[in-house]
Amino acid sequence: MNDIISSRQFARDDLERIFEVATGMEPISRGEEESQLLRNKYLATLFFEASTRTRFSFEIAMLRLGGQVINTTNVAFSSITKGESVHDTVKVVGNFVDIIAIRHPQVGSALIASKATNKPVINAGDGHGEHPTQALLDLFTILKEKNGINGLKIALVGDLRFGRTIHSLAQLLTHYDVEIFFVSPEILRAPESLLAYLKEKGVSYHETEDLEEVIGQIDVLYDTRIQEERFADPKEYEKVKNCYTIDKEMVGKGKEDISIMHPLPRLEEICEEVDELPNAAYFRQSFYGVPIRMALLAILLGKA
Ligand code: NCD
Repeated sequence: MNDIISSRQFARDDLERIFEVATGMEPISRGEEESQLLRNKYLATLFFEASTRTRFSFEIAMLRLGGQVINTTNVAFSSITKGESVHDTVKVVGNFVDIIAIRHPQVGSALIASKATNKPVINAGDGHGEHPTQALLDLFTILKEKNGINGLKIALVGDLRFGRTIHSLAQLLTHYDVEIFFVSPEILRAPESLLAYLKEKGVSYHETEDLEEVIGQIDVLYDTRIQEERFADPKEYEKVKNCYTIDKEMVGKGKEDISIMHPLPRLEEICEEVDELPNAAYFRQSFYGVPIRMALLAILLGKA
């Protein structure tokens, strides 16, 4: 594995290896053990879009493994604002560091970045394209919460059109025997190219606008934020912004052990009252970003 650009690149064996390494990283991620595995290795986090979890979890993963981090956190202070291309920025930064994680609003930017340098490049979100490391931590979470993935019924809810975490996660789920329910308003349906990919892989899926129709039969409800920043017309966003609300009553209509996941940040799509339920897996989920990203850094740097 040289770069992480799309979740389509992984074979089932890769997933198992990543999860095995991530499991070994857990005590280090919790600060219970110390490590110098990535001593003398430098990570650059080039983030040209907002982030809290993704950037921090990459950085803490690197630091807890004894590595070092440099970053661009404010686009205003980066040469991108002078008109420098992603290609040139990454070519230069690639000469300084050992590995790069990049987030950029343009679909395909991570692929461009990976071609600009021979250092490993990790896609930390390319516009409404993909977010493969989030999908890995999402799958790892499902594994932890449900003790396995095969046989599960999983609903992907909310903004399936612009939600890049959905795109990457649905593609990873093709390696398992699962049933997927896509739940969204008509204008936010999953892209045709994604549905075609699932068909090609023989995944059984259904599409609906009505969450109530599926809530009683699913094991995992993966909710997402409506991606306001990706709408060309703010009026369109207003129409769908609060299309689904997960409150205690809604969770109560589901199976007793239904897991509620969300990549975060959440706005109003999950009420705070849900946080106290054992079903609320989203904060556990966000923590798994650390061992997963530790595993990815170690693997890409040839240390695992
Ligand atoms: C997501 C993202 O950036 O795509 N956040 C994350 O990385 N955990 C989801 C979102 O912004 O809604």
